[in-house]
Amino acid sequence: MVILLGSTGYMGQAFLHAIAERGWPVHAPTRQQLDYTDFTALRSYLASTRPEFLINAAGYTGKPNVDACEDHRADTLQGNTLFPAMVGHVCAGLNIPFGHVSSGCIYSGAKLMVNHELHVERDLTAPEVRKIIDKSPQSIHGFNEADEPNFTFRQPPCSFYSGTKAMAEEAVRVLPQHYIWRLRIPFDHINSPRNFLSKLQYYPKVYNNVNSLSHRGDYVRACLDLWEKKAPFGIYNVTNPGFVSSAQVVTMIQRILKPARPFKFWSDDNEFYAQAAKTPRSNCVLDVSKLLNAGVKMRPVEEALDEALTSWVSAP
Ligand SMILES: NC(=O)c1ccc[n+]([C@@H]2O[C@H](COP(=O)([O-])OP(=O)(O)OC[C@H]3O[C@@H](n4cnc5c(N)ncnc54)[C@H](OP(=O)(O)O)[C@@H]3O)[C@@H](O)[C@H]2O)c1
Repeated sequence: MVILLGSTGYMGQAFLHAIAERGWPVHAPTRQQLDYTDFTALRSYLASTRPEFLINAAGYTGKPNVDACEDHRADTLQGNTLFPAMVGHVCAGLNIPFGHVSSGCIYSGAKLMVNHELHVERDLTAPEVRKIIDKSPQSIHGFNEADEPNFTFRQPPCSFYSGTKAMAEEAVRVLPQHYIWRLRIPFDHINSPRNFLSKLQYYPKVYNNVNSLSHRGDYVRACLDLWEKKAPFGIYNVTNPGFVSSAQVVTMIQRILKPARPFKFWSDDNEFYAQAAKTPRSNCVLDVSKLLNAGVKMRPVEEALDEALTSWVSAP
């Protein structure tokens, strides 16, 4: 039996659906049913239910966006660092393997091959970097799991949210029998304020940057596959292979959904941060070789985007 924490959330719902599809027995207590943020309550619940595996899809995400975490720092720290550390220690104490939903937002930029050497470029909006991305996208390499996160309290600047997500990885990665599954900008075919494809359609102006993305259904399937295949424990970047700019995704939206509205873009970072954002945003490319080498299939990001837009629905 699997225990799922955070089943009321955007990612938790997808996990619940994917687990049910596999026919795995699952218990998914809500926080109202069980205060799973309380050490004693969680410990006695897990000691009595004795799950084979636990998934932690709970966490504090700022709404409507990550800027809200700057104003709710105690909740952000509790939900994204203290809570997963506590869950991990309870699981370790009871010998229960677990998976933790982390984030790719602990990185900024990508690794660029220039003159046969890889170097980290934190800002993918710089004009000279944009030229390289457009002309020779093969020279862009994603961060892999061995690369130290560079958008953290240890390597500022970072958002408060990203700092707390990175601290959770530090707390969890010393424990036995765990997966850290890094998610990045989820999207799928269902219109929702949490879906990147919906956000792009509703923003008054789009912030054009370059990122790896995770199809929500592909992500949860890949996480469950890792556990089912008994892949080695550890950190996995779980994104669709490749990367796209927001402008490329807008072009796909225009081609497939044909919205009546025109799209406008912030002219540069200065305008975006002066008018629309409080805290620095992570924009990054992740390498998914480790996931693919573990035998987990992930379709390229363009294919996943195309499918999501082609089967677009307003409500489930
Ligand atoms: N969505 C994204 O863009 C994104 C990207 C990368 C990583 N992630 C990570 O994915 C995980 C799930 O995110 P989501 O988008 O599904 O979030 P969500 O829709 O906001 O759901 C959050 C879930 O966590 C619970 N929760 C909220 N605050 C909590 C706290 N302080 N302590 C413990 N549990 C708390 C909520 O329970 P209640 O219903 O009881 O409030 C809910 O079940 C998070 O760890 C997030 O950092 C999300």
